[in-house]
Amino acid sequence: MRKQVIAGNWKMNKTHTEAEDFIQTVKNEVPSSEQVESVVCVPFPFLQKLVEETKGTSVEIGAQNMHFEESGAFTGEVSPVMLKELGVTYVVIGHSERREIFHETDEDVNKKVHAAFKHGLTPIICVGESLEQREADQTMDHVESQVKKAMEGLNDEQASQVIIAYEPIWAIGTGRTATSEQANEVCTHIRRVIIDFYGSDVAEAVRIQYGGSVKPANADELLSKSDIDGALVGGASLEADSFLKLVEAGKHE
Ligand code: 13P
Repeated sequence: MRKQVIAGNWKMNKTHTEAEDFIQTVKNEVPSSEQVESVVCVPFPFLQKLVEETKGTSVEIGAQNMHFEESGAFTGEVSPVMLKELGVTYVVIGHSERREIFHETDEDVNKKVHAAFKHGLTPIICVGESLEQREADQTMDHVESQVKKAMEGLNDEQASQVIIAYEPIWAIGTGRTATSEQANEVCTHIRRVIIDFYGSDVAEAVRIQYGGSVKPANADELLSKSDIDGALVGGASLEADSFLKLVEAGKHE
């Protein structure tokens, strides 16, 4: 049985004080990590403090991006070594906003995924189609290609540890959620793609999240689907109450 993983992605939001308030409220309220994994992916400046403050609790802290190199002349970038040293455990890789706004390619994503494993970080790999691609019936092909390229060269053990977040771009921040059937259909396809490459043992272990306008009101329905093993949540992860409700929804499997 796969354990659900509920991850908040704060994106570029909150002040230090707001981040502190959030973590003080949720850190002792989340259920045990035996029942559901709770992750909050925060902006770089908050990482160190929040990792310290959540030690010994069931909240894990993640980053929203990183460079694939360990060090060097990459002004403005943050390396996997730095994240690991801080005690970060998860890193979001290839979010559609990074692909679209910052021109990250599938090759960059693949290098970052390898770098994450090299340094003991768990990658949350984001994939998903645009509205144009969905309307042109290209969703499955596009997502399949993104998954294959992101996971290229991973061994079985690494492959079984990735978390894939299926986030249709048209559902992000729009209030327009994919129906649970639409979301599950793509997640099932992703698992089939992984079966083809790694076999069913690995594919059965991989957690596949859905992301895109997830909120407490629709989380139960989405998380009850056979191939959806959690959620990657933007807007609704910013408020402590709402985040706690989402985590609670993740417990039901
Ligand atoms: P929303 O939950 O705000 O739609 O954002 C989804 C997302 O992009 C999470 O990574």
